[in-house]
Amino acid sequence: MATKAIKTIGVLTSGGDAPGMNAAIRAVVRRGLSSGLNVKGIYKGYNGLLNEEIVDMTARDVSDTIQRGGTVLYTARCAEFRTPEGQQRGAEVCRKHGIEGLVVIGGDGSFAGAQKLANLGINTIGIPGTIDLDIACTEYTIGFDTAVNTAMEAIDKVRDTSTSHERCSIIEVMGRNAGYIALWCGIANGAEDVLLPERYDYDEQKIINNIIENRKKGKKHHIIINAEGIGHSEAMAKRIEAATGIETRATILGHMQRGGNPTCKDRVYASIMGAKAVDLLVEGKSKRVVGYRHGDFVDFDIDEALAMQKDISDYQVEVCASLSHNYSK
Ligand code: ADP
Ligand code: F6P
Repeated sequence: MATKAIKTIGVLTSGGDAPGMNAAIRAVVRRGLSSGLNVKGIYKGYNGLLNEEIVDMTARDVSDTIQRGGTVLYTARCAEFRTPEGQQRGAEVCRKHGIEGLVVIGGDGSFAGAQKLANLGINTIGIPGTIDLDIACTEYTIGFDTAVNTAMEAIDKVRDTSTSHERCSIIEVMGRNAGYIALWCGIANGAEDVLLPERYDYDEQKIINNIIENRKKGKKHHIIINAEGIGHSEAMAKRIEAATGIETRATILGHMQRGGNPTCKDRVYASIMGAKAVDLLVEGKSKRVVGYRHGDFVDFDIDEALAMQKDISDYQVEVCASLSHNYSK
């Protein structure tokens, strides 16, 4: 139910950057301007809010950004904003700059900040931006598509050299405590083993036996995708090499997964989510998170969104394993 029409909105990116964030910023700015609002860009997440690094945004300011990785507003993690004093000050800064509505692009942590600001009277809308795909209320998060494609291409390349040298390769992908990037790459790259933090039940001896067995059958390489949430790839490589006698290398893909030009999907979904966030503010809504579910762009109450849980699909994990199995026929 609309309370009073807002005139000025702000937008910030917070937490880890993700390819496609610029498309979301661009959409917020342009949808905001076309709805007759003033739009302010806040640099460096909640840090920039507290330091009042706030600028007026024009349509021109977001030209030539949709195709670029990273975030033109920069991003940061801000310990002070976790405190009630920091949140109070953030709300005061918003009021001082006339920011009545704020779009926060980030992950669950950033939404917790938006939730606190909403409780202090600032209308806030969250947009899911993280390569990890670990936000429960939504099937899509900005950056996952680009990151998983980047990881997939990198793993293809590692596989080439792994085959030439007849090695075993452990490739560690990002995802914090979530295994979505690992699972998708496991399926897309056809990895022999995929280690997921959600299924912390892997049996190293089984992997070792599998490598030895595959080698006997003539397999030239063995690709293990290890999620960051399990980690310790270097130590694992040493143990596997010692146990199998097969040269084993660990490659940690790291931050390259967060960079690069966003895919078409990330540009389009981020643009629609950015526009929807502005539309919600114009409708007088607050404390909402934009999401994508069952083929549609939807929104949820932040409290409810943060309380939701999601888990990796058992069926997908099983399909991944069954397709990489070295069948004798
Ligand atoms: P993400 O948004 O990707 O989950 P973080 O968890 O690092 O990333 O959170 C980003 C920022 O959001 C933090 O640095 C902090 O400023 C803010 N934040 C995180 N949790 C809270 C919280 N419980 N209350 C207020 N602000 C928070
Ligand atoms: O949330 C995105 C992410 O890249 C995670 O996959 C990873 O655990 C974390 O951020 C790394 O953070 P930082 O950039 O601070 O090293």
